[in-house]
Amino acid sequence: MKKILVCDPAHFDVSYEINPWMKNQQGLVDKSLARIQWSLLVNALSEVAEIEVMEGVKGLPDMVFTANAGIVIDDIFFVSNFAHTERQLESKYVSKWAETKTELFQNVIQISHIVFEGEGDCLSAAGSYWVGSGFRSSDNVTKFKFGIDNIFFQQLKLVDPRWYHLDTAFCPLSDSTVMWYPPAFCDASKLNIQNSFQNHVILSEEDALAFAANCVVVEQNLFLPNCSDELVSTLTRLDYDVHRFDLSEFLKAGGAAKCLTLYLN
Ligand code: ARG
Repeated sequence: MKKILVCDPAHFDVSYEINPWMKNQQGLVDKSLARIQWSLLVNALSEVAEIEVMEGVKGLPDMVFTANAGIVIDDIFFVSNFAHTERQLESKYVSKWAETKTELFQNVIQISHIVFEGEGDCLSAAGSYWVGSGFRSSDNVTKFKFGIDNIFFQQLKLVDPRWYHLDTAFCPLSDSTVMWYPPAFCDASKLNIQNSFQNHVILSEEDALAFAANCVVVEQNLFLPNCSDELVSTLTRLDYDVHRFDLSEFLKAGGAAKCLTLYLN
């Protein structure tokens, strides 16, 4: 069964601005609604995946977005090195948590020389790890390769600050199908995605702005924020079971379903 890491939203808030979605949202998060929205998503995920819950930390309001905690490759937990000082302290708590999970990880490694924001900027599909750069993770992640030789990395350059992490605009649904929003990428990256996947679910601007690409994939189950009925029909026709969630409070921080989760296997 797939294992997914989430973080309790007790300390979630918008208390600084590090992406365009957070502008003028400070103090506007409804904390009890956020908890309800998070619980509905996590309960639904627990029907198809094993859920690990990490405690949040006071003063680290974005820690709830575990997609940025790091990435797990071959039983090794690589802990993120954040671009913004506001999030840098999260790494210490993520490492502490991961080090207690000896049954899950052989090793926990703190990334240091490069900026890397975890699965939020790194998704694997079709034989490659796709790395987003342009706003957060550095261009040289694909050279660094986590010191692992036999895996293949491909860089995708993001060009619009509204889609600042890869997982806000790109979601592989399988090794052959990808759901994505082309205007978020530079021309070379668009071409690369076009040529690397057989089937494409192209998001409308409206769905891309609703963060429909920020979707958790567990086999045929897709968990995404509120999106259009048209997109649900398209995905249903492709045989996916679509689960939609109101994640309004997390969108105020520039995050949605995928941002709230990290795949541990
Ligand atoms: N406020 C957070 C930030 O700007 C949101 C992170 C969303 N995470 C993601 N994987 N896209 O860093």
